[in-house]
Amino acid sequence: MTDTIIVLDFGSQYSQLIARRVRETHVYAVLLPWDTPQEQVLAYQPKGFILSGGPLSVYDPEAPYIQDFIIQSNLPLLGICYGLQALTKALGGKVAPAYNREFGSAELLGIKPSLLLNGNDGPSVWMSHGDRIEEVPPGFEVLARTANSPIAAMGDEARAYYGLQFHPEVRHTPSGAKILGRFVLDICKCNGDWYPESIIDQTVNRIQNQVGNAKVLSAVSGGVDSSVATALVQKAVGNQLTAVYVDTGLMRKNENRWVDQAFRKNLGSNLIMMDASQTFFSNLSGVTDPELKRSIIGETFIRIFESKARELGNPPFLVQGTIYPDVIESRAAERKQAQRIKTHHNVGGLPERMNFDLVEPLRYLFKDEVRIIGEYLGLPSELVWRQPFPGPGLAVRCLGALTPERVSKLQKADAIFTEVLSNAGLLIQRTGDDAPMEGTAQSFAVLLPVKAVGVMGDQRTYEEVIALRAITTDDFMTADWARLPYDLLAEVSNRIVNEVQGVNRVVFDVTSKPPATIEWE
Ligand code: XMP
Repeated sequence: MTDTIIVLDFGSQYSQLIARRVRETHVYAVLLPWDTPQEQVLAYQPKGFILSGGPLSVYDPEAPYIQDFIIQSNLPLLGICYGLQALTKALGGKVAPAYNREFGSAELLGIKPSLLLNGNDGPSVWMSHGDRIEEVPPGFEVLARTANSPIAAMGDEARAYYGLQFHPEVRHTPSGAKILGRFVLDICKCNGDWYPESIIDQTVNRIQNQVGNAKVLSAVSGGVDSSVATALVQKAVGNQLTAVYVDTGLMRKNENRWVDQAFRKNLGSNLIMMDASQTFFSNLSGVTDPELKRSIIGETFIRIFESKARELGNPPFLVQGTIYPDVIESRAAERKQAQRIKTHHNVGGLPERMNFDLVEPLRYLFKDEVRIIGEYLGLPSELVWRQPFPGPGLAVRCLGALTPERVSKLQKADAIFTEVLSNAGLLIQRTGDDAPMEGTAQSFAVLLPVKAVGVMGDQRTYEEVIALRAITTDDFMTADWARLPYDLLAEVSNRIVNEVQGVNRVVFDVTSKPPATIEWE
């Protein structure tokens, strides 16, 4: 059995991050709601628990609490923020509202070295709390403070119980990953031998058991998740799998080529590439409303896919690239526990409409782990490390009417921007275990439905405008605009105006999310 840490979710927006950080230390972590029944929790045979933060006060009548069996398990515990407060309350300490809410960076002071913290931690840590600890429970001692929190860290080394008022899981706490690493490796004594690819064999077995001799269908979009899911299923069931790629005409430049390259070799004639662009353009003709575009694209996609499935004798199984954050998000939505920032947009919602059993090989993986598995399975790295792309494709980046001419203009401008960023090493790329991603998390061109006056040669021009969007983010729920070098922007602008007919002006979007969203529509 792989050494496993259970992260109990008390509703913080950072709960997923805790599980990810733990997995980055090569220890398998599972995120479960705080009130998951005992048998389900203990079935994992955990080596320790991390209690996440959460939005409530421990004195709220609705406040989640630490279930008795967790404490009775005598396993190591680490409470973070709300988790620390819940632990304090459960073990007989005192939690009280702070006079000043503490939010943002704080300096860790007076560290008392322990298995969890050492003198090199901090000084900067990320705080986000109202309540604070006034008195540690019996058996605990204070391990560090900040200006506003006399008890910023506490521990009872004999019982291996620890609590942190700050958030070690966020990048704004530079020594946070090391602190979490010490908890899971030194205190919980996990082996640290889990790697994303270690689940490949296990997943292949599971798929084979689920599917037996039946046929499986997959819709590949050129996106990372559907590609890696399809490659895993292909490894498991070979030519029982048929992959369908629907070219909507709204794909990025070269999309078809990547898909062909990724799957043709292994799937041969079981890769079906359909050019449905005419149908999409005709259904979208004259439509400018973003939500209407989305629903028409979703409907059209479903209809095309359904008829293809019928042609193929209605295979009973469908591959779905659901990843762990999707699972966690929909679970939270059902329980209305974590506060939802973004509605989940899923165009092409096939499963609700069609009678398939789902094969979901990526259900327990985070995005960067999916990428690592994709590489391991031999998918082209351009595909595996590419940025997220919205389901409705360029339709939501081509503002206004959708015509093949306008979309082609956008594809060209977008390809130039991508090429220049790639040459500058600023697209997502893998840099190592500690910092799997750097560069822009998402970057693209947007074609605006306005015309501007320009002058080219001695001629007056009246052409359309391209906006460039480049953002940095960890989770796509909030984002900042990327501070791209001026010279790079100048090169992109020059090339777009010179190489893309019908564009005479390029602007750069300098809005964060919130208040803007990442996409323009
Ligand atoms: P927003 O624009 O909401 O985007 O800040 C957040 C992330 O979601 C992607 N996105 C979509 N993905 N269907 C999708 O599958 C959609 O309709 C859609 N809209 C936005 C967006 O690219 C970004 O990564």
